[in-house]
Amino acid sequence: MHGTNTDGTDLLQLAEGVFAGERDPWANAANAAALVFEALPDLNWAGFYFLRGGELVVGPFQGRTACVRIPVGDGVCGTAAARRETVIVPDVHAFPGHIACDSASNSELVVPLISGDRLIGVLDLDSPRFNRFGPADAALGEALATRLVAACDWRLADIDGF
Ligand code: SME
Repeated sequence: MHGTNTDGTDLLQLAEGVFAGERDPWANAANAAALVFEALPDLNWAGFYFLRGGELVVGPFQGRTACVRIPVGDGVCGTAAARRETVIVPDVHAFPGHIACDSASNSELVVPLISGDRLIGVLDLDSPRFNRFGPADAALGEALATRLVAACDWRLADIDGF
């Protein structure tokens, strides 16, 4: 399925299916990363960082080995976490402070995971294509993030604030 087009509705329906009856954050985040990586074309990394001990710590993902800890405010992930806003970067080489985990990455989308007033972490998608991510991808990432947040019991995961 990797490399094929799946529209957002399909992806969200598939996500609902894999989350059904399961409240474990690591299990659901792992399946969410796999679903996104398979469903969306032109990704080289898809996964999560979670706020643990005051830093973003890498969680379940698909792709090459990633940097483990990112301070809030650093890189694209830390910027989205600090602002609590989705960040689209058309060219990561032009983003001040971008953290290069995989030299194949050229564009990036980061969506914060928020529950009430608490920051849980971020969903991070990387692409080898410049300008890969647009508003529709941001909306899809945000919808997936909302569903994942609602589908899990975050107290099971040692996330700050829970
Ligand atoms: N590029 C990210 C770091 C994470 S890796 O891409 C998986 C950043 O600048 O925050």
